[in-house]
Amino acid sequence: MKILTIASAKGGVGKTTVTENLAVALARKTGRTVLAVDLDPQNALALHLGLGPQELRGLSRASLAGQDWRGACFEREPGVYVLPFGALTEHDLAALEAQIAARPRWLIEHLQALQLPDNALVLLDTPPGPSMYGRQALSIAHWVLVVMLADAASYATLPLMQRLVQTHCAPRADFADTLYLLNQVNSARQLSQDILRVLRDAVAPRFAGAIHADEGVPEALAMGLSVLDHAPHSQASHDILACAAALAARMGALPLGLEA
Ligand SMILES: Nc1ncnc2c1ncn2[C@@H]1O[C@H](COP(=O)(O)OP(=O)(O)OP(=O)(O)O)[C@@H](O)[C@H]1O
Ligand SMILES: [Mg+2]
Repeated sequence: MKILTIASAKGGVGKTTVTENLAVALARKTGRTVLAVDLDPQNALALHLGLGPQELRGLSRASLAGQDWRGACFEREPGVYVLPFGALTEHDLAALEAQIAARPRWLIEHLQALQLPDNALVLLDTPPGPSMYGRQALSIAHWVLVVMLADAASYATLPLMQRLVQTHCAPRADFADTLYLLNQVNSARQLSQDILRVLRDAVAPRFAGAIHADEGVPEALAMGLSVLDHAPHSQASHDILACAAALAARMGALPLGLEA
């Protein structure tokens, strides 16, 4: 199991969108089993599956009930599994968070209990900024993918993300690297283009790609489909596949004969 944690300092930059669509694209590119896990109580990954608000299942309820997470996984398509956070009352969320705070290995133990294939890829979607979920996700990541917008505010948060990675990932021998993805790039706006260039230079070999702002992205969410299926010929689809290929190459996950 190789773990890629998707993180950002700022909210609303596209982490959940990127997690869902990269999970589908990585499974198609690599042929490996991919599991996308929502570690954010907003429970937004479930929307990407087209699950309605009446669907309460998720890792939160399973954890509170002392069950493993297998029964809360949804198969998105063969080889792609999605584990929603699930819906909880305020009271139950407080109980879950107390449980997590007392168990620093809560996340890794639950993931190991799933007994995924050795070469499976696990994508962890996290809440923005520092959080108990984010800390556990960073502390077991082999790779971190930082998602940013092409704006000055996102650029200004780079040091915060770098400090979090430094604290939770860098001291570990099994941590590989941090990669950066720019989302919602607008090629018609000069500022967006300028920030893309500055950021690419600032993180140079760790730049995993850019995804353009594209109306196919929110449309796909509204229909409960991946962007690759809803708008296969869109710019965003093309960008997502390119990012998945770059990530798979960096993670050594491309099938033999397709390595970069
Ligand atoms: N490339 C894109 N083009 C157009 N819209 C996008 C793109 N990426 C994300 N969005 C839209 O931006 C909004 C926020 O995306 P998303 O929920 O994935 O962000 P997030 O970082 O997970 O937010 P949070 O920090 O609250 O968890 C959504 O409405 C999504 O459809
Ligand atoms: Mg999110």
